[in-house]
Amino acid sequence: MYNKYNTFIKDKIKLGNNMIEVKNLKKIFKHKNSNFVAVDNISFSIAQGEAVAFIGPNGAGKSTTIKMLTGILHPTSGEISILGLSPQKHRKDVVRQIGAVFGQRSSLLPNLPLKDTLSLFGVMYGMSKEEIKERIEYLENMLDMKSFHDQPIRTLSLGQRMRVEVACALIHKPKILFLDEPSIGLDIIAKQSLREMLLYLRKEHNMTIFLTSHDVGDIESICERTIIVNHGKVVVDEPTSELHKLIEKEKHVEVRGPSLEDVLVKIYKQ
Ligand SMILES: Nc1ncnc2c1ncn2[C@@H]1O[C@H](COP(=O)(O)OP(=O)(O)O)[C@@H](O)[C@H]1O
Ligand SMILES: [Mg+2]
Repeated sequence: MYNKYNTFIKDKIKLGNNMIEVKNLKKIFKHKNSNFVAVDNISFSIAQGEAVAFIGPNGAGKSTTIKMLTGILHPTSGEISILGLSPQKHRKDVVRQIGAVFGQRSSLLPNLPLKDTLSLFGVMYGMSKEEIKERIEYLENMLDMKSFHDQPIRTLSLGQRMRVEVACALIHKPKILFLDEPSIGLDIIAKQSLREMLLYLRKEHNMTIFLTSHDVGDIESICERTIIVNHGKVVVDEPTSELHKLIEKEKHVEVRGPSLEDVLVKIYKQ
């Protein structure tokens, strides 16, 4: 799968104009007696069709950054451009062009059946009845959800529910997909199907993907570029395949060479 992926990246992915531009982005949370800098002057640009892993240890500032990029939080300072628009000033226009999945927090109503859940999201995005019907048909096929069309969300397994979360994020055909720890708690089969789905979205729709995950398999198989944040700062922004060059050989890893996990642990601890 990894080899196939590498070939397909080189052959099929067309990188376009910048979809995301972030300049000197900062977020300070005001605690009782002090200020806490959660995101500390980060800058990067992401082109159309790129899949970027945005990773780092717990508390590094990943979710805070994604919330600013998707317009949920206001930055303390700095600039964000999503398709040339500000997610804060042009929230409605930006929301129409992006999808977001937050693995740690569900956006679904537990008692609503799948079909109504998808319809509700379609209505929220101002889609027509016909558009919604067509899109539900497409997404249920693509994400293999036909068998639980009528089931309330609360009765679904975690893997099935995550597919619904992704479907809701895709209902309005966004150009950028933000995923904040979508594979958390999933078994290896569900993880694999999530990865295949993200690769399909890249290949078929040239989707720009911004992914946070603690799973090195997700990072290696989906994202050709990795941005690592630590203590709110960008410490690495490299092709994923080059990351192993960032650490020196150590005794315990000499024989097999460092795994991506070895490399990340080393960088996270700095
Ligand atoms: N609403 C908030 N108020 C105060 N502090 C916050 C808030 N949200 C996040 N933080 C703090 O900002 C830091 C970064 O959090 P977060 O972006 O969620 O990290 P990550 O997603 O990388 O694990 C953490 O130390 C967290 O406690
Ligand atoms: Mg987080």
